[in-house]
Amino acid sequence: MPVQNNKSPSPEDMETLGNVFERHSQENSLMIYLQQIQAEFGYIPEFAIKYIAERTLFSESRIYGVITFYTQFSLKPVGKNIIKACNGTACHVGGSKVLGRKLKSYLKVDDENPTTEDRLFTVQNVACLGCCALAPAMMVNDRVYGKLNLEKIKEVVETHRRDSIDSKEDE
Ligand code: FES
Repeated sequence: MPVQNNKSPSPEDMETLGNVFERHSQENSLMIYLQQIQAEFGYIPEFAIKYIAERTLFSESRIYGVITFYTQFSLKPVGKNIIKACNGTACHVGGSKVLGRKLKSYLKVDDENPTTEDRLFTVQNVACLGCCALAPAMMVNDRVYGKLNLEKIKEVVETHRRDSIDSKEDE
């Protein structure tokens, strides 16, 4: 089932939005509001766009324009782990296209719905990670994994899955 961006806000969500606005009302900067909301929610929910439009002079279409222009913002919930699958030239030559397809099928995601249902992973396609000597390569959060094959990809994914579940249990 695709991850949706139309959930109704809970009282906690509204409180979080209120706090963001309270903290940053002096600056009244759309970028700051969006960065804070992205940090708090992990994406920009639809209700937050309406909330900003109601409280500022920014129209909803202007807010959408900024969100879609900057890659730091996402309109869909993203996973706890961001996998950047490299599709640059060196990685492409090394078979990244097939590996990327297998990675997505392993995680049961696609380009339209790149986040797993359990919100543990989001797969993004990127042009070059800057470590072409390690091609084919991918990055999970801030760590690079190179010389990939399907076995190694599964191993990396499962390590991050275990770590994410362990850290959740520790909370
Ligand atoms: S092309 Fe993949 S790291 Fe450069």
